[in-house]
Amino acid sequence: MPQVGTVKQQDFKTCDQSSFCRRNRAYADRASADPNFVSPYMVKEDSVLLKDGLLSGELINSQNQHLFVFELHLLENSISRLRINEKSPLKPRYDEVKNFALARELPNTLNYTERPINTKDHDSLTKTSIYFGNKKQNMVVVHHSPFRIEFLVNDLPIVAFNDRGFFNFEHLRIKKQAKDNGDQTSDESSSEDAEDEYGSWEENFNGKRDSKPNGPESIALDISFPGFGHVYGIPEHASSFSLKETRGAEVGYSDPYRLYNLDVFEYELDNPMALYGSIPFMMAHRKSASAAILWLNSAETWIDIVKSKEDKHGLSSLLYFGKKLPTSTHTHWISESGIMDIFVFLGPTPADVFRQYGSVTGYTALPQYFSISYHQCRWNYIDQQDIDEVDLGFDTNEIPVDVLWLDIEHTDGKKYFTWDPAKFPDPKKMQNSLSVKGRKLVTIIDPHLKRDDGYYIYKESKELGILVKELNGNDFEGWCWPGSSSWIDYTNPAAREWWGSQFKLDKYQGATENLFVWNDMNEPSVFSGPEITMPKDIIHHNAWEHRNVHNVFGLLVHSATAQGLRNRTPISKRPFVLSRAFYVGTQRYGAIWTGDNMAKWSHLAASSPMLLSIGISGISFAGADVGGFFGDPDIELLVRWYQTGAFQPFFRAHSHIDTKRREPWLFGEPHTTRIRNAIRERYALLPYWYTVFQEASETGMPVIRPMFVVFPEDEETFEIEDQYFVGDSLLVKPIVTEGQTSTEIYLSNNEIYYDYFTFDPVRGSGRIKVDAPIEKFPVLLRGGSIIPRRQRIRQSSALMRLDPLTLLVGIDQNGEAKGSLYMDDGETYNYQNGDYIHRNLTYSSYSKLISTSFPISGDNTNFVKSIKDVRVERVIIIGLSKKPTKILAYHNDENNEVNNNQGLTFTWGQKDVLGTGVTFTNTNDQVLVIKDPKVLVWRDWTIEIVF
Ligand code: NOJ
Repeated sequence: MPQVGTVKQQDFKTCDQSSFCRRNRAYADRASADPNFVSPYMVKEDSVLLKDGLLSGELINSQNQHLFVFELHLLENSISRLRINEKSPLKPRYDEVKNFALARELPNTLNYTERPINTKDHDSLTKTSIYFGNKKQNMVVVHHSPFRIEFLVNDLPIVAFNDRGFFNFEHLRIKKQAKDNGDQTSDESSSEDAEDEYGSWEENFNGKRDSKPNGPESIALDISFPGFGHVYGIPEHASSFSLKETRGAEVGYSDPYRLYNLDVFEYELDNPMALYGSIPFMMAHRKSASAAILWLNSAETWIDIVKSKEDKHGLSSLLYFGKKLPTSTHTHWISESGIMDIFVFLGPTPADVFRQYGSVTGYTALPQYFSISYHQCRWNYIDQQDIDEVDLGFDTNEIPVDVLWLDIEHTDGKKYFTWDPAKFPDPKKMQNSLSVKGRKLVTIIDPHLKRDDGYYIYKESKELGILVKELNGNDFEGWCWPGSSSWIDYTNPAAREWWGSQFKLDKYQGATENLFVWNDMNEPSVFSGPEITMPKDIIHHNAWEHRNVHNVFGLLVHSATAQGLRNRTPISKRPFVLSRAFYVGTQRYGAIWTGDNMAKWSHLAASSPMLLSIGISGISFAGADVGGFFGDPDIELLVRWYQTGAFQPFFRAHSHIDTKRREPWLFGEPHTTRIRNAIRERYALLPYWYTVFQEASETGMPVIRPMFVVFPEDEETFEIEDQYFVGDSLLVKPIVTEGQTSTEIYLSNNEIYYDYFTFDPVRGSGRIKVDAPIEKFPVLLRGGSIIPRRQRIRQSSALMRLDPLTLLVGIDQNGEAKGSLYMDDGETYNYQNGDYIHRNLTYSSYSKLISTSFPISGDNTNFVKSIKDVRVERVIIIGLSKKPTKILAYHNDENNEVNNNQGLTFTWGQKDVLGTGVTFTNTNDQVLVIKDPKVLVWRDWTIEIVF
């Protein structure tokens, strides 16, 4: 049950207070309660046509004869897409979100076989079945009467639409005169249509009126995942990773999960309430099958989830040899407006699903190298002297940092793109002095504009007519940080273009190339608006009401800003923009964070499931405010938070203006050392993190991976949300409980792992006890992995770019290991022309560690020139059973030993070799440390170990 917190529940709607949600839930209840209920939607016979991978046809609602058109696209890569709209709507329904959310429109596949159309099933009802996919392993069956669709993979049912008959498409209509002299309250249960219900044509919430000139226009559909006991995704919620039931269950919620980007003050944990971002993507997983759907709609959306044990599809015999009944998950999707546009990704592995989903919505943009290191933020660093002192504090305490952040108080009266002249008299000088140490500055640029004609951004945008409008045509006005404000209409391409141009260095006074951007409050947050956001009936570009575009608004702020940064220099550099609101496709533009969390252990714990949900939904570059935004963490919580944050993709400390200062050195010893070690460990591992990000940018594999993604056949992993992998080599279990000094970590099978800090082997399967004293947290290197590190920690990541590397090799039970190393210039797009290195590292049972190149698509001479002297300075091999007699290293092309014939220097049984300051006894002798093999990272080389 939701925790009691300070969130103002009454500020936000429940399903019951949102009329379209209430109507559709009531519709579902009627359908479920009536044994004779049959969905009224039918395929119009003779309308069905299959051509070029597209099955199209018409649907009729047999109750009111309203006509709809459907298109079922069979796409490449085991993807399918269903689109349904009214055949002749009174006016167009919103269908533009695809232009913002999708990276590309995939062509229909020609890889399908037609079965004779219109065969009869055993009830002599018509159905249309088509096999598709490379091996024709996928099948879609469209049942005509009533309309329902099933997707099967290798003849097993995977996804079913309208199985429970909740499909409901409210057609646009003309308002009838109120029947009872203006009394709009009518009996919902007697109404089969939305026509007369209270809330259909006007709605009030907390004294705010939604005028609803278009009346009811919601869409809803039930989507079942037969045989799948777990579904994941649909962020953003402070909820469990494996999603809970929302109706009728003892453990679960009473309201559906809600997707509606909102600024929720002091949000509660374990709650399906909407938060800052929305991704209507849901993934289902069971042994041997993964699938997902994307409900492409940017209006307010609610999702009910229930589970059942049933055998409707004969799954018990197909999955469990008749020995047990599988659990199935049934979901009900309800959106306020728009058309129905649903993608189905048929997997069958989790990696396939991520690749398929990314092929449509885009993969994580490869970030600037600095941006995956450590960020120091606070609301607010008050002036230039404060920034200088914080900057120096990191140096004196030997803690690296790449970015210092300025929150809203740095501006001149909350007018973004300006500086408070008294506090920040010389912003360029400030940025230049940071850049000497390789450090950057981020400033906050929010989308609300102070309505002050002396403010050039407001004045220009007003004159250009690119602000969001009231119904009467005036610029919309609401309240935010600067007081009375207006908002740019980012749905207008000209407005996005104009916004982007404001980041040009000759426009944004005081900015240098060393300045990056933070877009906050872009849900948008409107203090005076309904549910702290924009009224739904205000008007955007092309006369669309806000209700249609609400959830994509923040993405458009983010994308326009990112585009602006990309274009501000003659040679484009990768932008870094942090956004609070997000939507499908945000991963193409930058990072997000989980907003205003609290300095509480429970919030530290919640960061893992939240980031895992966001990660599998496409956005890998995400983090939570380290230390917690509201409140003052005690030092134990702060240390644990740093240790956790160092192993989450976006790593930034941040705190509210009313909190006590908490820069890492303010607590004295031994605490500073503990925080320092955590941050330095992040820097040591940057080559690994960057390599994992590169993989995410090409394959869609999340940077932090849930256990089920790594072990899809192990049912025990399906609910695990408190431990995860970074890439596929590091298993992390954050300590999120006060006073805890040991914990259990779940190992899926009898692989070997090594304690990352002590190199001690950890064996077994199931729940294994591991030590976690405050100096240390459970990080295990998976046997069979090779990961790149850098041992020399400097003031910033930029200063470490040419440092030599250390390779950490943990061999598996077969005496083997593999890994990779990706490097490029870390800031430009030259990698897109092949200017990078990508090394394939293998350690074979023949005792050779070999580096070869993965195929490079292009010319990498420039980058190679820039790193020509970067070498491997150390190799640590864990898990060998005996001490070598000699070790040789050579570049393969010359067959030429780099070192002398006597071989390389090495030690056996070294302690504390990672130099993290952790002073644990290494009880494992079997650690080989090879000193300075001098092989160059860009060349092919071999290190041969002779026993
Ligand atoms: C709300 C953001 O979530 C928070 O991080 C920021 O510090 C404040 N706005 C002030 O800008």
